[in-house]
This record gives sequence, C-alpha cells and structure tokens, in this order.
Amino acid sequence: MDLSSRTWIPAMVPWRATSDGFVTPQVLAWYRRFAEGKPGAIVVEATGIRDIPSGPLLRISHDRYLPGLRELARTVHDASGGKTRVLIQIIDFLPIRRRPTKEAFFGRFVQITSELMHAVHGSDEASARANLVAMSDADLARILPARELESYQHGYRERVTDVHLESVRGLPETLPALFADAAARAQDAGFDGVELHYAHAYTMASFLSAKNTRDDGYGGARENRLRLPIEVYQRVRDRVGESYPLGCRFLTDEVIEGGSHIEDAVYFGTEFARAGMDFLSLSKGGKFEDAKQPALGHAAYPYTGESGHECMPTVRIATPGPFARNIPLAARITHAVRSAGFQTPIIAGTGISSFWQAEEILQRGDVDVVSAARQSLADPDWFEKMRQGRGDEIRRCFFTNYCEGLDQAHKSVTCQRWDREDLDTAPPQDLSADGKRRLIAPAWR
Ligand SMILES: Cc1cc2nc3c(=O)[nH]c(=O)nc-3n(C[C@H](O)[C@H](O)[C@H](O)COP(=O)(O)O)c2cc1C
Ligand code: SF4
Repeated sequence: MDLSSRTWIPAMVPWRATSDGFVTPQVLAWYRRFAEGKPGAIVVEATGIRDIPSGPLLRISHDRYLPGLRELARTVHDASGGKTRVLIQIIDFLPIRRRPTKEAFFGRFVQITSELMHAVHGSDEASARANLVAMSDADLARILPARELESYQHGYRERVTDVHLESVRGLPETLPALFADAAARAQDAGFDGVELHYAHAYTMASFLSAKNTRDDGYGGARENRLRLPIEVYQRVRDRVGESYPLGCRFLTDEVIEGGSHIEDAVYFGTEFARAGMDFLSLSKGGKFEDAKQPALGHAAYPYTGESGHECMPTVRIATPGPFARNIPLAARITHAVRSAGFQTPIIAGTGISSFWQAEEILQRGDVDVVSAARQSLADPDWFEKMRQGRGDEIRRCFFTNYCEGLDQAHKSVTCQRWDREDLDTAPPQDLSADGKRRLIAPAWR
C-alpha cells in the first residue's frame, strides 16, 4: 500500500452509526469531509466484530453490514480523487455496565456470599440486601470484597482475567475467528487495509497488559501476553492473504500502576514486525483502571484519569504539553524494530497540529507516518492547505477536548472551532437534530 503523503488520520468514533451499527448518511458525510483534505490514510473508527447489540458503534460483525461499508470505502476513494487510502479499525471489547444506584446494586446485583451475610448480620438474603442498602458508603467500603466495591462505585466491568466465566476463558478460541471474519468483510467491502485494535481499554490490549495474570498460557510473562494477539494476527493473515495491508494499533505505555511500559511495547512492536504485520500504529494510555468515577447511570470512560489524559492530552497537561507527546516513546519502538532488521512502517502522533512539527519528526526518522486526530477534526482541509503552502489559513486545534466531552456523552462528535459557524446557511442534513450544531466542518472558501 502506497500513501500519497506520510499523513494519517487515526480512528475517531463520531457516534453517527444507527443504534444497530449500520453506516448512515451522516457516517458517509463525516468521512467524505476528511477525505476532501486528501490525507495519506484515514482509519475508520473502532468497528465491532461481534454480532451483539453495542449501541451506535459501527459494526462489521455480519454480511448485512457489507453494503454500507462498501459505500463508505468508495466514498473516501471518490472524495479524495483516489489520493487517500482507507483502512478500518476492528475492535473487540468486554461487557461493561453503567454505575448502578445503591438500591439496584445491593437490591439485585451484589452476590450475597456467606461472608457478606455474616458481615451484615442478615438472617436471609432479603434482609442482608436491605441491611446493605441501609449502610453508609464508608462501612460498605470496609466489608465489600474489592471487586464488588468497584462494581458498586464504577459499574461492573468484565476483565480478561475473569477466567471463571466460560466466555472469558474461551477468548483464545473465539477471538481469532471473529477477527478473521471481520477482516475478510473489510477486504470484501473494498477497504485498503485493516487495523487490529490492540490499544486502549479493550480486549486485545488487556491481553498485552502487564496486569494480565491468566495462567492458561495467555497471561503472565510477556511472551504469553503476546500469544493471543499474534494468534489473532495469524488467523486474520491466513484469511486476507499475504498482500493485504494488515497491522495493529497498540500502546507505547499503558500509564497505569502495574501496567505495561515502553520496554514491553518495544518487545511487542518487534515481535509484531517479525510476525509480518504491515504497519504499527502507536497510541498511549486510555485505560479503565484509573478512569474517574462515572456519574450514576453512566459507564466508566477510559479517557479520564492520568492514562486518559496521556491518550488525548490537552493544553492543561504538564510539561512539555500535549504536542508530539508520544513521539519519544514511538521513536524507541521504531529504532528497535529497525535494529531487529524490519522496515515495518511506524505511525504515531498525538498533539500534532503544524507542518514543521510533523516534518521534524519525519526528518529525524522518529516514525514513518505522522498521525493527527483532533487537528484533522478541527480542520479537515489542513493537509491540502499545507500542500498549497497556505498554512496561515489552517484552523488550529485548541487541544481543550470539547470533542472528547461529546464522545464521552456518546453525542455526535463535532469541533468547537466550527460547529456554530454559518448555522443559517448550512444544509439541514449537516445540522444536529436540535439545529444548534453543524455536524460537518464548513467548506474551505
Ligand atoms: C472523538 C474521538 C474518538 C476517538 N476514537 C478512537 C477510536 O475509535 N480508536 C482509537 O484507536 N482511538 C480513538 N481516539 C484517539 C485518537 O485516535 C488519537 O489517538 C488521540 O485523539 C490523540 O491524537 P491527537 O492528539 O492527534 O488527537 C479518539 C479520539 C477522539 C478525539
Ligand atoms: S473540539 Fe477542541 S480539541 Fe477537539 S478538535 Fe476541536 S479544537 Fe481540537
């Protein structure tokens, strides 16, 4: 796969799919707008591989999604005049529930073990539950097992280490085929490549994590944590063939206590390259472990907490600020991969919003392709403006994460730099239902 420039828009979920995961006209409009700026590549948002209800997250879990996905790939090719390659990020994630009310959690969800019954002096299950509802949070924190306390305070979240659950124990058997089927659909739909989502808070990243203590050969030592990600890759490769562009996105550092760090990432990157991946895209952080407590009725959001701030840093982050923040770690992976004799292209960014910043990174050889998510949202034409030497016309990202706030609320993602511009003259289909925000960046005049 040749890129027309060393630029890359990484995956960004805009919350525009139908509630059962189909491509909508708004999804097409979102990607068409990015394609008009003609970046080297666009990676379509995290797209679910399981055929289960997952809200308005795009899905690739069945052939019924193919017509919409085919139109999406064609839209990017057409709108960029063939200049932009379009890949799709495919994701698996484990169940996560909203933070429950006290009454719901202790009335229904908490498991009444004999220890808990004893601790709350219950005579039967109903009285134990009633006593728990009546207790103060401080007393509950004292008597509840750690996992139940977390489910009460943050909402229940399944982990790859929950091997007492058959579905979790069986992930090494089920996931390779699910990823392979999804990738084969992407290829069929006309995408130029597939990115396996091995980053952030999701299933595959959790296998790579130093916090993965599974003792079935898929956890513990680094080699074992890498095993399923490699097996998934190999199964996908067998399905899509040697010449189809296939890579993954993974973390330079998880930025959580007891998590994986750069030494792990250097090892993973080298092994992914050795296995034959065609590109490695790097991100950082974005974990559930340090996510801030969600409001009642809301689910935990992995882009809060320190790891979340590293993933999408704002101008409020400490020295040296958000700009090119992941590049020093990415460069270490590039050099390790090259030293091991592989030329696998490495993609990274975070906080990139100017030509010279990107150019210096490329000149130094830190990475091969520079990615920019929020800057591309702030100004989808910025690649074209740079190409034409009209950098002074670029609408710069403020890096204050208004867009991320919308993502967190599962609202249509827009940018504060343009979503209230020219509301009167915007075509109705480009406006939110309440007419107060435009959903698509205005045309560059
Ligand atoms: C609204 C929004 C949605 C995102 N969705 C995804 C996603 O689906 N998959 C992913 O790997 N990263 C996702 N990210 C993270 C970005 O790809 C990127 O890594 C991050 O924003 C930092 O890069 P930047 O400084 O260039 O924005 C998302 C970011 C934003 C702002
Ligand atoms: S909303 Fe703010 S942080 Fe997000 S892309 Fe726009 S300017 Fe950047």
